[in-house]
Amino acid sequence: MQALEITTPDDWHLHLRDGALLEAVLPHTSAQFARAIVMPNLIPPVRTAQQAQAYRQRILNALPVRHTFEPLMTCYLTDSTDPNSLSEGFAGGHFIAAKLYPAGATTNSDSGVSHVKHIQAVLERMAEIGMPLLVHGEVTDPDIDVFDREAVFIEQVLSPLHARLPQLKIVFEHVTTADAVDFVRSCASTVAATITTHHLMINRNTIFKGGVRPHYYCLPIAKRECHRQALRAAATSAEGQFFLGTDSAPHLQSFKESACGCAGLFTAPNALSCLAHVFEEETALERLEAFTSLNGPAFYGLPANRTSVRLIKRNTPVAVPKEIMTPDGPIVIFDPQVPLHWHVESPAQVAKRRELCP
Ligand code: DOR
Ligand code: ZN
Repeated sequence: MQALEITTPDDWHLHLRDGALLEAVLPHTSAQFARAIVMPNLIPPVRTAQQAQAYRQRILNALPVRHTFEPLMTCYLTDSTDPNSLSEGFAGGHFIAAKLYPAGATTNSDSGVSHVKHIQAVLERMAEIGMPLLVHGEVTDPDIDVFDREAVFIEQVLSPLHARLPQLKIVFEHVTTADAVDFVRSCASTVAATITTHHLMINRNTIFKGGVRPHYYCLPIAKRECHRQALRAAATSAEGQFFLGTDSAPHLQSFKESACGCAGLFTAPNALSCLAHVFEEETALERLEAFTSLNGPAFYGLPANRTSVRLIKRNTPVAVPKEIMTPDGPIVIFDPQVPLHWHVESPAQVAKRRELCP
């Protein structure tokens, strides 16, 4: 048996949804993560401090009694976001960051930003006040190949933006390409990237293995194997610019398995087991904590968590169910297609064990 104790992780990019779905999915994150940056792409999106406060309260109300979890709220930017209201929301602690969805890029992004020029004043203000900009980095031009949209976004939007406002803190979310990894490394430390669990485990072949597999479809879409290797190298490097954002994005099974299935993988339940598996494969278990628990808080200027989780490798694989049930139907859990042997002891279990055996 091999065991590893690490500072309790945070998830720097998470979709929690609302209502019955929120209640069903939240415990899978709050059992293992201390904090998460909560995406604002609800219908309607979270655009005001008041909406963020109310959503935060709904999340807290849905928490299982014994879980300690802090939701960090974000503001959904639109062409008409007002810099004053945004900076008030940031100063008041209602928003930790603002999210840029290029309009039409992904799920519930229709009211996103149609062109960055429309939010120039907002971006300047964010740079001034030190408010991080979280970016869904894909162009929306339908003539651009879906596998190239991230690389083209770097060239057309992100690189000019960083050159124009180098002091603006940017998180390039869920990067999927070697181009993105190289770009982030070439930038000042004001630019960071999140990497998901699934993009470390699957490549684009997985989506088409023996047929179309909707449960591996997400945006940005998984790329070629060489890109997955670049992501693995970045995640396991312990470089401060790379940290975990699972982008766990639950959708009902019926919406995934449809003629026009939605993008998003529900990875929260087995994220840590998957990550330990990946880091072990890369012989980098000693750098797992930097990726899951230290680099993110350092970038956001927050203290690391004071509790711990324990990862234990057992011969018996972790029994991950195929799905979770909600009142609206099942949600399929990410299947990494390999047995996972890393079992997770939650912060509560670790604390209890320490009490019994100090
Ligand atoms: O696959 C994705 N799903 N990518 C996103 O950017 C949004 C997310 C969702 O909200 O379902
Ligand atoms: Zn997302």
